[in-house]
Amino acid sequence: MKHRLAFLLLFAIFHFSLFTFHSLAQVPVYLDQTKDIEARVEDALARMTLAEKIDVIHAQSKFSSAGVKRLGLPDFWTDDGPHGVRPDVLWDEWEQAGQTNDSCVAFPALTCLAATWNPMLSAEYGHALGEEALYRGKSMILGPGINIYRTPLGGRNFEYMGEDPYLTSRMVVPYVQGLQSVGVASCVKHYCLNNEEEYRHKVNVIVSDRALHEIYLPGFEAAVKEGKAWGVMGAYNLYKDEHNCHNQYTLNKILKQDWGFDGVVVSDWGGAHDLDQAVKNGLDMEFGTWTNGLSEGASNAYDMYYLSKQYQKAILEGKYTTKELDEKVRRVLRTFFRTTMNKQKPYGFLCSEEHYQTARLVAQQGIVLLQNEGDVLPIEPQGKKILVVGENAIKMMTVGGGSSSLKVQHEISPLQGLQERLKNTDCQIEYARGYVGDTSGNYNGVTTGQNLKDDRSPEELIAEAVEKAKTADYVIIFGGLNKSDYQDSEGHDRKTMDLPYGQDNLIKALATANKNTIYVNISGNAVSMPWKKQVPAIVQGWFLGSEAGTALADILTGDANPCGKLPFTWHESLEQVGAHSFGEAAFPGIWRGGEKKIIDEEYKEGIFVGYRWTDKQKLKPTFAFGHGLSYTTFKVSNLRSEFDETADGNMTFKVDVTNTGSRPGCDVVQLYITDVKCSVERPVKELKAFQKVTLKPGETQTVTLTTDKRALSFWDEQTDNWKAEPGEFIAWVGDASDRLTCKVKFKLQ
Ligand code: BGC
Repeated sequence: MKHRLAFLLLFAIFHFSLFTFHSLAQVPVYLDQTKDIEARVEDALARMTLAEKIDVIHAQSKFSSAGVKRLGLPDFWTDDGPHGVRPDVLWDEWEQAGQTNDSCVAFPALTCLAATWNPMLSAEYGHALGEEALYRGKSMILGPGINIYRTPLGGRNFEYMGEDPYLTSRMVVPYVQGLQSVGVASCVKHYCLNNEEEYRHKVNVIVSDRALHEIYLPGFEAAVKEGKAWGVMGAYNLYKDEHNCHNQYTLNKILKQDWGFDGVVVSDWGGAHDLDQAVKNGLDMEFGTWTNGLSEGASNAYDMYYLSKQYQKAILEGKYTTKELDEKVRRVLRTFFRTTMNKQKPYGFLCSEEHYQTARLVAQQGIVLLQNEGDVLPIEPQGKKILVVGENAIKMMTVGGGSSSLKVQHEISPLQGLQERLKNTDCQIEYARGYVGDTSGNYNGVTTGQNLKDDRSPEELIAEAVEKAKTADYVIIFGGLNKSDYQDSEGHDRKTMDLPYGQDNLIKALATANKNTIYVNISGNAVSMPWKKQVPAIVQGWFLGSEAGTALADILTGDANPCGKLPFTWHESLEQVGAHSFGEAAFPGIWRGGEKKIIDEEYKEGIFVGYRWTDKQKLKPTFAFGHGLSYTTFKVSNLRSEFDETADGNMTFKVDVTNTGSRPGCDVVQLYITDVKCSVERPVKELKAFQKVTLKPGETQTVTLTTDKRALSFWDEQTDNWKAEPGEFIAWVGDASDRLTCKVKFKLQ
């Protein structure tokens, strides 16, 4: 605890001072550490041979690239990302290396982190992850992932921070800073427009400039400009017919020129496709799986990378000068000096108590109480019988899902969490399987060791659960998705919004049998809930990592008061989703020609993603963006601003928040802006500020929320810049996008 507090205190100042102070104690043989980073970069660059320069800009193994041994620069190790440090694989194979020191803490998935709406926790998350990375000798973590949740079918939404560019921006910056504060680079991914998994290597996204700048880029821009991210990963897909790993417009123009990014652009694994583009269009380091987009291997594969021997040969033949090469190497060296060569780095820790505490706190604060009719929750366990149902009550969720799969020191399941919490009480817990989903439990050679096999039919499983439910005081179902293909998993998107494995039948049957039925949904995506009215309590439990069961027990028993808020709109069905309102052309796209090489996907909903779409269409989602209940109640009132006019767009609002219930709790005060009249169509409202507050029963706090001109602006396609038009605006404040209890009007001069 002391350690974490110290970190939080030092957090703001540490990253500024980290690299300006250089110790003379350990000067390597060849490089002069007294010089600042830029001088050291130039010094090293001037000493490197062509072959050495080529070596540092491409992979030499699945997750490493070469340093320059002759100059005392060690190899550079990266690793996934983003929820914990991935276990080591073999040098050039995906199989496990079989290390015994790579069992990590799994932190909650980033959807849960975003649902905390707590930037300080995000800093703590990044810092803890950084310490785990340091212990494991990794200089760059391949994360965070911040692609926008465009459709609830998105296979990797669980790894991202939801649908809103502002929320994503506020949460990504501290993650990056926390991670980098210990000298580990973040590699913010997947830049950009990687909102579909199914055809991720072939999708060419067509999107308006407005939607690009207003929805899909702000998170990356904030990570780079405010977070000062040292790495960015190019995405697999195409934009303007160029792959995003070497894209003139997104990398050279926007990222490097407009935003001033000075770190490295790393290709997604196997995401480079062309030598000339790889040389000229902003790619700095090529990583991947063999050479031709994740398909074929060769024994000397790394030599065959675009930024490898063929680039060297082309330079020697005079096709390229070393201008582009030197620029790439500069960025790589800068990254070395920020990370591996940074002598001020603190020590790393794996699986420290503080990391578990952070994981638990993030989980507690991110779990969302979606519905609580009749105050069924929190449970009152004394003398009661609780029936726990569902595969997700016992299934390990940290293994699977693709590159974010982890090998954990421990993962506490929801059932174990409840059993542990209630073990010294007179409450009885029973378990019924209810449904059988995916029993395989292994990813890339990491196995959960769980035997989840059950050969009973769905009817038998439901009958058993219903029978037990009849005599229980509470039924708690843990269902949802898992990390199997076509669910919350890399490589494919979901095929429908429905719950898999016949869970709807199970939930309906249990809700009929027992009026105190609680459904806990484990997923990173919204699922359809045709039984919503029959089930009194619904909790969104995300993928919570190592402390999943502990944190869920904290919430269900009321040891912790829920305070998570949805980072995306919980649409009732796909018909309510903008991306699904324009046919195949908008999702998943239409093949160009017969060869199936490129599939064009046009984001026809434009800027109207998530609540921007439901607002525009006047739809009522199952649960709104920013929604989340508590075991206490809050009143948000008395919104005021000092001025009712602004010349520069800067505005300060004050609002009172009162805990009107009987338990201490946290609320998230959210401010949305409406542009009353504008020359272009604007969203009905957009999130522009928020703050999480903790209040004792009866306590009132005044919260200050500020906005600036950017909060009033739209991306003007005529001038290629942000523009705020003078006139009237409305600021709405409340604690969910559909519970905005206060408003004030103001004018921009
Ligand atoms: C994923 C990245 C990941 C990389 C390395 C790719 O397939 O898209 O997110 O970091 O593999 O595992």
